[in-house]
Amino acid sequence: MMPADQPVLLGVLESGATATENSAEETHATAIAISGLHKSFGSQVVLNGTNLNVASGETLAVLGRSGTGKSVLLKLIIGLQKPDSGSIRIHGQEITRLDLDAMNELRKQMGFLFQHAALYDSLTVEQNIAFPLKRHTQMTESQQRARVQELLASVGMERDLQKMPSDLSGGMQKRVGLARALALEPAILLLDEPTAGLDPITSGEIDQLILKLQKEYDMASIVVTHDLLGAKTIADRIALLHDGNVLIEGSFAELEESRDEFVSEFLKRDS
Ligand SMILES: Nc1ncnc2c1ncn2[C@@H]1O[C@H](COP(=O)(O)OP(=O)(O)O)[C@@H](O)[C@H]1O
Ligand SMILES: [Mg+2]
Repeated sequence: MMPADQPVLLGVLESGATATENSAEETHATAIAISGLHKSFGSQVVLNGTNLNVASGETLAVLGRSGTGKSVLLKLIIGLQKPDSGSIRIHGQEITRLDLDAMNELRKQMGFLFQHAALYDSLTVEQNIAFPLKRHTQMTESQQRARVQELLASVGMERDLQKMPSDLSGGMQKRVGLARALALEPAILLLDEPTAGLDPITSGEIDQLILKLQKEYDMASIVVTHDLLGAKTIADRIALLHDGNVLIEGSFAELEESRDEFVSEFLKRDS
């Protein structure tokens, strides 16, 4: 899916050339560009000038203590909430000023999995995954069926087509949620705590599945997680959110080298 010239474009940007707004370079290389993002609820400041970039094909893990605004950040990117100020650009397009119709259109390029898998309880696995296809594509019934089969196979759930969500284990629900998030072949994937509430072995399996899907679909992804091991497994880069800002970002090794007290404490916690 990625154009053949991608690495070249990335190289150009990394070497310090500036991309003008909405230029082809930025559109290709920077999938998500967040700057100066502010969001408060009443007197509670949650995001306080947050800056974050995710390149096409890159997986960024966002870590942070519970209540630091990780889920809020994802909701702002999907446009379910509006920031107080700041900029969010998706493939160069400023989304904070989009109206609902335009936002819905853009959202088709974004797959997301909420913290609580949020499958439709009254629909079968097959119907759950067909839902975005029915809503957003012109596919015929048989094309939809074929696509659902393909998606379920890619998450190892091809035999569970007719099951209801309540008949699935937590790990299986996440798999179905992932398949549904991928239904429209999104350029951007946002996962909120994809392994929360799962046992360590199942978490490891889901991490491996996410890795495999990243390679297959070649998306820009943000994975919010409290799971350090998971972040280390699936992410190209890690950002640690603290007090409304990215305190540090880099590879896991770079985080480990940090002398910052909060960073060291955070890494010590469960690694
Ligand atoms: N819709 C909302 N109204 C009021 N407060 C909210 C709302 N959404 C989130 N918050 C608050 O914002 C803070 C960050 O929440 P959240 O992003 O869910 O944290 P986390 O990092 O654990 O995902 C929390 O204190 C939460 O209570
Ligand atoms: Mg959360």
